[in-house]
Amino acid sequence: MMLLSVMGLNACTGSKKEAKVNESETTKKGTIDMKGKKVLVAYFSWSGNTREAAQYIAQKTGADKFEIIREKAYPTEYTPCTEDAKAEKEAGERPAIKGRVENMAQYDVVFVCVPVWWYTAPMPVYTFLEQYDLKGKTVIPFCTAYSGPSSTLRDIVSATPQSNHLDGICIVTKEMGGKDMEQKHPKIDKWLTEIGF
Ligand SMILES: Cc1cc2nc3c(=O)[nH]c(=O)nc-3n(C[C@H](O)[C@H](O)[C@H](O)COP(=O)(O)O)c2cc1C
Repeated sequence: MMLLSVMGLNACTGSKKEAKVNESETTKKGTIDMKGKKVLVAYFSWSGNTREAAQYIAQKTGADKFEIIREKAYPTEYTPCTEDAKAEKEAGERPAIKGRVENMAQYDVVFVCVPVWWYTAPMPVYTFLEQYDLKGKTVIPFCTAYSGPSSTLRDIVSATPQSNHLDGICIVTKEMGGKDMEQKHPKIDKWLTEIGF
């Protein structure tokens, strides 16, 4: 409850405000020619929203997928999970994660799809980003959240200083696609078109 009320203060309700966040706080605007590019969608998800969105993005872009999973599973109950995540964030941990992307060198474009956890990406995402040489690749941040991205999109940009970046977006809970998600998601579709897909 505490977290939700804190998050309420940070609410990013209108798309107008989100667009501003994307322009001013994440990346330089632009597109690249996606023809022939090899794309990876790396994602973290605890309760399923980001997985659903990441699968949608992968399907639309013809990308391979990689799920970032902390080696030590998070609690399945909400409050214990928030406490675990908060302690990990405050300690600046880089928890061990399962598996590796086979041949990261082959990818030109990497979507990094995460839920907002305590105003930023879950710590295993930083473990992931720091494990690879992403120099010269195009990294595209994406997040889902209850209220808004906070610093999440720009934190992913900061964590990949050797990469090129395209504008990311945040999908808030009420914008999740529900049953329609498999077929269409207008906000994600519009964004993918804008960045060159
Ligand atoms: C540990 C934890 C921390 C969270 N922190 C935030 C937050 O700071 N801001 C926010 O808008 N939503 C926050 N949320 C809500 C999630 O970002 C949101 O429900 C997201 O869509 C969950 O994605 P998932 O289903 O892929 O795990 C938090 C959720 C959890 C479990």
